[in-house]
Amino acid sequence: MKRNIKDKILKKLSLREEQNSLRSLKVNNDLIDFCSNDYLGFAKIPSVNKLAHHGATGSRLISGNSSQFEILEQKIAKLHHAEAGLIFNSGYDANIGLFSCIADKGDTIIYDQYIHASIRDGIRLSNARSFSFQHNDVSSLEKKLQRAEGHVLVAIESVYSMDGDEAPLKKIIELCEKFEASVILDEAHATGVVGKHGLGLAQTLGVESRIFARIHTFGKAMGSHGAIVLGSNEFRTYLINFARSFIYTTALSEHNLNTIECAYERLIDADEVINKLHHNIRLFQSLLSKKLKAKLIPSSSPIQCILVPGNENVRRVETELQNKRLDIRAILHPTVQQEAERIRICIHSFNTEEEIKTCVKCLEKLIP
Ligand SMILES: Cc1ncc(COP(=O)(O)O)c(C=O)c1O
Repeated sequence: MKRNIKDKILKKLSLREEQNSLRSLKVNNDLIDFCSNDYLGFAKIPSVNKLAHHGATGSRLISGNSSQFEILEQKIAKLHHAEAGLIFNSGYDANIGLFSCIADKGDTIIYDQYIHASIRDGIRLSNARSFSFQHNDVSSLEKKLQRAEGHVLVAIESVYSMDGDEAPLKKIIELCEKFEASVILDEAHATGVVGKHGLGLAQTLGVESRIFARIHTFGKAMGSHGAIVLGSNEFRTYLINFARSFIYTTALSEHNLNTIECAYERLIDADEVINKLHHNIRLFQSLLSKKLKAKLIPSSSPIQCILVPGNENVRRVETELQNKRLDIRAILHPTVQQEAERIRICIHSFNTEEEIKTCVKCLEKLIP
């Protein structure tokens, strides 16, 4: 029997509506920013964004490559103490490309249950077996490692995008070394935020040489767009040959590369701004009452989440916060598990003390 695709689309959308989980796009507003990933305000600095523009004209393997790409990759790799780096058009592209080509039938990818959607999608496109382990739980990871076969890869994030907490990286590396598994670390929310010059968690802990590959994205604290995968020279060549999201897409433009370069130059002098960001995070936490602290997911990153179970409840709080001119977003099921719906506050270096106080006051009033 033939079926009409329009009916299917309408049915799926109305189901989302019934569950209060229909996503919709919002146009940028002039509310106080407590939701963007522009943690250091780099995206708003005009010199980063008003630079010469030359289109890429093709993929990196055809006409889109340039010495600017290669020099920038070497520069960023050196800064992050890696042998080599390959720039992708986004963090999503980097993860989907890397994970879909790194493991084959007979291999195993083990990932934290809260891993980002881009990694999950990459794993789904590979022919490897995959298991998740309990979030940040090293003994759960060990059980999965015992069942793993073939080449074994373990995917984790430095700072988890929906909870804001940090991976127990050293312990995970030690365990993986015991089982001869390779760690792949997504540093998206640690880039520009964690450690000296915001160079990430691996470098802060001095474990960069014990990690198979790291992903740094440029669309968050770097205020630009794109991502780099760091690893060995051989791995870079492997990605150029097998990562389909690298091969079959137009390269980034010169303008985009300039913004990435500027952001890295800025980062080297940004310790004061990074310190201000961490000061603001501590200020936010110190202002919370016991009631809200009990609902706060423990995190020392700019991502601060307060649990408000139920899509309807959390949406209501979001609307009321927006009415108070605070741009704070609700995270709904199915993005997070049912009963783990939350208000997700992103703290920035540029949020004023007054704004943070207003934000906390409103949260205290609106969250029961
Ligand atoms: C952990 C993580 N990895 C990758 C990505 C994707 O990065 P991009 O926005 O550059 O595609 C995100 C973005 O939300 C993320 O949070």
